[in-house]
Amino acid sequence: MDASVLLALRDPAGIPFYPVVFQVLYILTWALHAAFVLLALGSMGLSLYGTTRQKDDPYWKILTPHLIQTGKISISILIVLGVAPLLFTQVIYDPNWYVANTLSGMWVFIFIYTLLVGYTMYYWYYYANKAKEGGGKLVGFVSFLILVSAGVLMHNFAVTSIMPNEWMDMYAPNGVVDNSGWTFNMDLARLIFIVSLAIPVVGIFLQNYSRFLSTRKDFEERFVDYCAVLGTRIGVVGLLISAVTFVIWMLKAGYLMNPVSIAIIVGVVILLLMVYSNSNSYITTGVLVVVALLISSLREVIRFDIMTGLGYNIYDYPVNLEIPTITMFLLTFLIMGGIGVAYLLTMAWKVGKIKSVFDGSKDKAVTRLGNYTLSIMVVWMVIYFGWGMFILFNNIL
Ligand code: HEM
Repeated sequence: MDASVLLALRDPAGIPFYPVVFQVLYILTWALHAAFVLLALGSMGLSLYGTTRQKDDPYWKILTPHLIQTGKISISILIVLGVAPLLFTQVIYDPNWYVANTLSGMWVFIFIYTLLVGYTMYYWYYYANKAKEGGGKLVGFVSFLILVSAGVLMHNFAVTSIMPNEWMDMYAPNGVVDNSGWTFNMDLARLIFIVSLAIPVVGIFLQNYSRFLSTRKDFEERFVDYCAVLGTRIGVVGLLISAVTFVIWMLKAGYLMNPVSIAIIVGVVILLLMVYSNSNSYITTGVLVVVALLISSLREVIRFDIMTGLGYNIYDYPVNLEIPTITMFLLTFLIMGGIGVAYLLTMAWKVGKIKSVFDGSKDKAVTRLGNYTLSIMVVWMVIYFGWGMFILFNNIL
């Protein structure tokens, strides 16, 4: 692939801020997206097993609906969090993203419906299981397969986007233009590794679940221990599977000796020891976040190397500094997002810690955070729309 083609596909307006900032934000937000993808697939997969045990086993009777609920919420979060890396990738790697979306246009179209049908069926599964213990097995299973397929499609877009050398063959195989939009590429080792991470993630989640419930008097101690042991088993086995699949992927990609890859292996070994001993799962989760960021960085290193090898370096992307835009974005992201998320998390934590109904209006921290979030949102809306209108009328009048 000639670099001039790639460079010609860039946005002629340039980008509004330094490329490295978008690159870092891409790495950060993809890791967040992946975290909830893995938690959704892991908790949903385990809940399906739970439906087969739920009727006769008192522990699975409690655990299964909780896993279904975790998966349900995680899907909505993963969808929201998927938008962020999508925006950042299309800012700095727009040639890649748009070419992949054009070549695989039909799959992009199908992806939306896959998600719609898969998530709608998840709700069906949730209500069927709520109505009857052990209910909704088949619907849940189909929904699971559909949501995994959404991940496979996402994988196709990611992989196709980093194959510029083959784009011409995909667009016109044997010289005949194929504009069907059915281009589909897979890197099985990479896909299996990423999806396999759902197993250790749900294991660590269970350890956290058990730790969180250990302060609740209304949950039997034996149930809490059962969840911790189950989490440890799933976590250890999952990490071993992920470690093997990671090495296979790295050997295939030729990145095994890359410093980021070595750091991931060290991270996985540390995680393995921490999950095995389960002395404090909250700290284990912190290490898991670091490993997730490393995996996200490695994906970026691979893409960066492929693209610079072809003469496309994101650091050379023309920058057309737009300070107000980036200021607005960062303030929204850090202040409104930060306080809003802190409010929701504090409330969720406190709701889960007590048996009775939690009244947020009687809690100082929750009330304060709620008021801040509300006021910041009002100010944000006034600035956002006021500013937008000002620019609009300034330009057209
Ligand atoms: C159940 C639904 C979904 C699943 C299971 C899923 C899973 C995945 C997986 C496995 C990858 C990594 C692919 C790879 O690197 O090989 C990925 C990447 C990605 N996903 Fe998702 N995803 C889902 C929904 C979404 C949605 C709704 C969005 C956007 C709104 C999104 C945005 C992204 C982006 C931007 C990437 C990175 C693409 C790249 O680097 O080129 N995903 N997703």
